Formats: sequence, C-alpha cells, structure tokens
Amino acid sequence: MSYFAAALVALLAAESLMAAGWGFPNAPIGAPATLLLVHLVVLGWLSLLLCGALFQFVPVLVAKPLYSARLPLPALILLLGGIIALLSGFLGLNGALTAKLPFFPLASVLLAAGFGLVLWNLGCTLWRARPLGLPARFVVVGLLGLAATVAIGITFALVLAGDTTTPTALRLFADGLPIHIIAGLGGWLSLTAMGVSYRLLAMFMLAPEPDRRSTRAVLQLGAWALGVAVLGGTTAILVRRGAALVFSAAGVLGLLTVVLYARDIVHLYQARKRRVLELNSRMAAAAVGSLLVAALLMVVLGSMGTLGRDAGAVVFLVVFGWLSGLGLAKLYKIVPFLTWLECYGPVLGKAPTPRVQDLVAEQRAGKWFGLYFLAVWAGTVALFLDSAWAFRAAAALLLVGTAGIVLQLVRARRLADVPASARFPGGSVRPPLVLSLTRSH
Ligand code: HEM
Repeated sequence: MSYFAAALVALLAAESLMAAGWGFPNAPIGAPATLLLVHLVVLGWLSLLLCGALFQFVPVLVAKPLYSARLPLPALILLLGGIIALLSGFLGLNGALTAKLPFFPLASVLLAAGFGLVLWNLGCTLWRARPLGLPARFVVVGLLGLAATVAIGITFALVLAGDTTTPTALRLFADGLPIHIIAGLGGWLSLTAMGVSYRLLAMFMLAPEPDRRSTRAVLQLGAWALGVAVLGGTTAILVRRGAALVFSAAGVLGLLTVVLYARDIVHLYQARKRRVLELNSRMAAAAVGSLLVAALLMVVLGSMGTLGRDAGAVVFLVVFGWLSGLGLAKLYKIVPFLTWLECYGPVLGKAPTPRVQDLVAEQRAGKWFGLYFLAVWAGTVALFLDSAWAFRAAAALLLVGTAGIVLQLVRARRLADVPASARFPGGSVRPPLVLSLTRSH
C-alpha cells in the first residue's frame, strides 16, 4: 500500500506539472524539463506501482511466499531517494537547481541498489518456484527488461554527469535511447503488465485463461522483441551498422505481440462467466484498446515516415492510455480487495461481513474514470495537432479525473462506502491508510 500511495502522489504531481505547461510540448522532447516529467511518470508512478503490485502478486502467481517480506521497505526508501536524486540531476541540467551535489552518480547508486533489491527479492521468489507457469514467465522477461533499462539509464546518467567517458558509454549515449525506451516501456512495464493482466482479468471476470498456445506466442514474440532491441541494438550501435534494421525488426515483433495479446484479451472477455462486467474490467478494456490504437498508429505513422515527428503523441497514449489506465483500473480492484482482506479476514466465518464490491461505489467512480480516459484521448489528439494550450487543458482534465479516482481509492481504504452498521463487526481490523498489514505468509 505504501508503494501505491507513493506512486499515486508521483502521478498527481506529474499531471499538475503537465497542466502547468511544464515539459513537452512547451519544451523540446529531449529538454531537461521533459526528462524530469518522463521519469516522474515512468519511475515515480509506473515502476513503483508495478513493484508494489508484484510484491503482492508474484506470491499468488507461484503459490509460494515472497522470498523476503522485509526487503520491500528498504527498497522503497532507496528507490524514492534515487528518483528524487535523478529528478534533481535533470533540474540541474536546466540550471534550475544550483546545489552542487553529484545528483546523477547518487541517483545511479540509489536506483541500482533499490531496483537490485527488487530484482533479488522477486528473482529468488520465482527461482524457488520453478517450473514457472506462463504469467510468471512474463514477469521474468519483464524483470530482465527492468535490469536492461536501469543499466542503460545509469550509463546515460553517468555520461551526463561527466563521470564516464569510455567510448562504449559515449556511443550508447549518442544512439542508445531507443534501446532504453523499448526496454523500459515495452519490456519492463508492458510485458509485466500483460502477464499480470492475463491472470487478474481471468480471476476478476471468472474466465478460463486463454488458449495456452497463443499466450505462449505472445510471450515468445515479446521476449524476442526485447532481446533483438537490447542485444541486437547494442551490438549494432557499437559496430556502427544495422541499427535501423534491428529496431525495425524489434518493432515488427512488438507489433505482433500487441495484436496477439489483444486477441487473447478479447477472447477472455468473450469466455467470461461474470455477465455484468465490473468497472475495473470495463476500464481495463479501454486501456487495452488504447494500446491497440497506439500500435496501429505506429504502423501508419511509420509507413508515412512521420513516426519521429509524432512520437510524443504515441508515447503519451501508451503511457497514460495503456499503462496508467490499466494501473488505475486494477488498483480500483486491488485496493478494495486488500482492504477487505485486512479488515474482515480475521472475522471470516465468525461474523457477517460485506462483499468486496460493497467497498466501492462504481457509479460515482465510473464518472471519474470516464473523464480520465476522455482526457487521455483528447491529450493525444492535442499532441498530434501540435496544440500546446489544448494539451494543457486535457492535462488539467486528466488531473481532475485522476484526483477523483484517488479519492475513491481513499474512500475504499476507509470503508466509507460500507453502511456504518456493517462496517466494523466485532473482531475486525481498522486498516491504516497507507500501510498494509496483510502479510504474504
Ligand atoms: C521504467 C524505466 C524507465 C523508462 C521507461 C525510461 C524512459 C526514458 C525516456 C522515454 C527517455 C527519453 C525522454 C526524452 O527524450 O524526453 C529517457 C531518457 C533518459 N533516461 Fe530513462 N527511463 C527509465 C529509467 C531510467 C533510469 C533508472 C535512469 C537512471 C538511473 C534513467 C536515465 C535516463 C537519462 C539520463 C536519460 C536522458 C538521455 C539523453 O539525454 O539522451 N532512466 N528515459
């Protein structure tokens, strides 16, 4: 729960900055202000959200306890320190921060240590649970993507700080940005989210998991796309030939991954036993739809030769429509579920308890989710039209929508929507707001 709270604060902060006109499209795409905004979202929001979710979810996936229940807290502290240092480093590039601390080296050490603990803890949990099922293997590939992203990010940070001048690091800095982005957005964030979504959607919609052959194909294509981009891309950059070809091949593999994944998810929705969809499942469909549209846009723009110009709009749709949309939709189920477990677990079978769905007010939350997705799509159109003011207006709506969703999560955590008479039967536990008392074993 602390990971989720920190992540949501980062998301609200990033959206406030966008609404205030910070970063792209008011500043160039590679400007320090944009770099700060991008990493506030991808590290502060998405990576913390995913780490928190994996600590909770990997033990469920492999039916074994987490290797260490103690490491997530020091990892969170290191990650928060590292993220603050990295953002300060970007501010320093802008000249906006004059303190002369070595922010980039500091960020490198803290982020390597924080993500190192995450990888170690989840890695040991998965290793002990071999042979792994399909969703868990998605997580393994995602974690490899995380390792690659962090390694390349640290190389960039040390080059920016002037702390490394080896020819390999300089070449990677000059041409390696696509590898960093593909490994981060595609490998770490998207493949992990896909793996988790197969299991969560099947669980929440009472659907059989889709045909294993097609899911295995999604995993293999995704893993190949990541491998070709990271290993092939690094080699091509270092030998100075073939990089465009390698990235195009990774792009085609990535596209096939998305199309097959979307087909699997459609099948999941069709095969479900729960006829009336809960809000979290309806919103997850909007997120997967955004991913599919982003993939199609990449094909169309790529064939028109304008992908470079419109990359900002496509990345925005991937980050806010697909990854953040799915994240918020699933939080809207996970937070009430964990809270229910924490509060009523001790009295199950001993006293009448509310259902998990009694902790949420879907009609009210539906309006905020609707506003959120409309704002994402409007923001994407604004970026295509190159309209900075329309983008700021969309970002302001995005902020309002997200704040509304966060408020619903806080209400669920406080059990505010459960009728007072049923709220706390004798022996139940009143859950604190940001600390989860649920233990994984
Ligand atoms: C989920 C993980 C990550 C993702 C998705 C990600 C994504 C990105 C993106 C999209 C850019 C380009 C932004 C732009 O041009 O405006 C970028 C650049 C950069 N990233 Fe990351 N990043 C991640 C993690 C990290 C980490 C852990 C570090 C450092 C420890 C880092 C350091 C950098 C640096 C220094 C640049 C600037 C490179 C340059 O000036 O060309 N990133 N990243």
